[in-house]
Amino acid sequence: MITRLDAPLKVTGQAKYGADHNFPGMVYGYVVLSTIAHGEIEAMDFAAAREAPGVLGVYSPFDPLALRTPTTMFGEAWVPLQDKEVTYYGQPIGFVVAETFEQARDAAALVTIAYRPLPARTSLAEGLADAEDAPPARDGAPPTLEVLEDGVETFEDALAASPVVVEATYSTATQNHAAMEPHSAVAVWDDGELTVYSGNQASNLQAEYLAMALDLPTEAVHAVNPFVGGAFGGKAMVSTPLFLAAAAARDLGRPVKAALAREQVFTATAGRAATVQKMTLGAERDGSLVALRHDSWCSTDAAGSFVEPTSHGTSREWYATRNLAISQKIVPLNVPPTTFMRAPGEAPGSFALESAMDELAVALGMDPVELRIKNNSIAPPGKDLQWASKHLDECFRVGAQRFGWAHRPPGTRTDGDWLVGMGVATAMFPALRFPATVGITLNADDTAVVATSGADPGTGLLTVLSLVGAESLDIPADRITPKLGDSALPPGGLSGGSTATASAGTAIMLAATKAIDELVALASDAGAPFEGREVTYADGRLFADGETMTFGELLRTLGRETLEVTGSSAPGEELTKHSFSSWGAQFVEVRVHKWTREARVSRMLGVFDAGRIINDQAARSQLMGGMIWGVSAALHEGLEIEANGRLANGDFASYLIPVNADIPEVDVHFVEYPDTLHNAVGARGLGEIGTVGVAAAVANAVYNATGVRVRHIPITIEDLL
Ligand code: MOS
Repeated sequence: MITRLDAPLKVTGQAKYGADHNFPGMVYGYVVLSTIAHGEIEAMDFAAAREAPGVLGVYSPFDPLALRTPTTMFGEAWVPLQDKEVTYYGQPIGFVVAETFEQARDAAALVTIAYRPLPARTSLAEGLADAEDAPPARDGAPPTLEVLEDGVETFEDALAASPVVVEATYSTATQNHAAMEPHSAVAVWDDGELTVYSGNQASNLQAEYLAMALDLPTEAVHAVNPFVGGAFGGKAMVSTPLFLAAAAARDLGRPVKAALAREQVFTATAGRAATVQKMTLGAERDGSLVALRHDSWCSTDAAGSFVEPTSHGTSREWYATRNLAISQKIVPLNVPPTTFMRAPGEAPGSFALESAMDELAVALGMDPVELRIKNNSIAPPGKDLQWASKHLDECFRVGAQRFGWAHRPPGTRTDGDWLVGMGVATAMFPALRFPATVGITLNADDTAVVATSGADPGTGLLTVLSLVGAESLDIPADRITPKLGDSALPPGGLSGGSTATASAGTAIMLAATKAIDELVALASDAGAPFEGREVTYADGRLFADGETMTFGELLRTLGRETLEVTGSSAPGEELTKHSFSSWGAQFVEVRVHKWTREARVSRMLGVFDAGRIINDQAARSQLMGGMIWGVSAALHEGLEIEANGRLANGDFASYLIPVNADIPEVDVHFVEYPDTLHNAVGARGLGEIGTVGVAAAVANAVYNATGVRVRHIPITIEDLL
């Protein structure tokens, strides 16, 4: 078993996260948050704060830090303190810097704010009333999409012709990212150049966006993040503490550290949208889908800056249906911003689709596993490009066997005081990759460095660099030093969208091929040891007519210390030939207590088809974490927003997440078919798919146990009384 290279450093406390960095003369910033949901800031009185011990600087929309709006790969980033409008409760509106953290926090508490409040809308239910006029979903994605088979005029005609119809509305709660490492930053300027230490999902992108905000050339910003304490989409953008620490450090001429308090993370970052989703399914009596309609609404901030693409991300591609209609609307509210969160779209979208599929199975009197296999697609509906590699049916068959699905009775089974049920759901997440560049340095001592800027937000990417590097260079992994999380390294792109292994891995293979070609050329050059001879490479060595030397020996012979190459990869021609996705089958057993009505997951199994698995342990950990998050979404998580916009449970005392006692043994199994049509490594993404479908499988198991169909998550005791 391969242990993750960073694991010993993390468990022994030696790993230095962003806020663990300290510098001489460093001072501390504390963020001030709004206490209304909507309005104009009329005045901020900083007099008492300025007088407080140790205070060095106070910043607000009245005395802002110079920050521009960066244009990122996700659109324009929000930059704090630039205007006086408040659009949600808990919005960053001030920044106090002092000699110590305690002084900054205490002074921040002395700031008084006068608002001119405006009417606020904080409830999705109220917002839905106007949702028909809501703006379209997002740039680039059509708000509606319809695929009709030949001869069918309207979706309604297809539905009317369906012998069995299921129609229901589902809803999912707002979730907070709640990563272990709160968003934080340390910023140090030196002679007009900036170094920042801050957890993120792509060091080179952080440097680029921060440079835009500070009006600097990209090369003047150095972003360092070798360790990241959880990200999952929540650290893809530049955070408020990073913007403010960087700008204040420039203003004050001192290194600045800024970290959000846990409660502040709940509002001053961004979370998962609440959704309402209406599903309409029409089927033949044998279970074949005739018509599938998915209409979604999601909450978003007042600016409508993000859409949780539940319809597009889910129903657009999952099943073979003859007719498909999807729509996606946003409901702008005075709530904190929404953003990417592990499987954005598919995670809440699968709750609706996979619950509805279960309801259809009940209506048909059909086994839910068989219903899904029946509607297995060979291409996304309405598209010509077939899936390059899809073994979803095998996931279901293997999973059913492994889980003992055949023992599932149609109705309630009891075990003492517990009602026991089983549920199943499909999981799917598109296989993507992004442009990435990786540098390989071969050293004269027969070691190698594999380096890319990127980030390892707990995914195991650092270890993947080492493993794919070793395989590509044909040397043992212990001779490879992987380097990651530093914007000075070749631009590695984003650890997001379940792409990093496919993106970086492909670039490593290209770089290694280049390195080997160069070695062969060097060895056979004029004056070189194998001059003019046919040279081959294997096992870290060069060969010519029975003679051999290691690449290190060759470099030493030539008086060279290193050989350096880079390899770049980007998605390309493969996208014109096939469709790509990872697949999975989720099986869950739930126990509901007869008298207390508490629901507990007692067993779970995920069987995944994610192409080639590079590191079995890291892959299992990713998927297990995702599955646990699915249980969390199903039974625990949800933000309660008061009418005034304040989060009623915006802290770890009241925001429920599962603890060890809530989670049973989690079984993760792979059906492994390398997908070399997607990328040369053959690995597809698996960071996000683990959570997809789990909440539906839990709700379906609850139904199987109790006969109660709960169409919202989280499912609570009250739902099962
Ligand atoms: Mo993930 S939500 O793509 O970081």
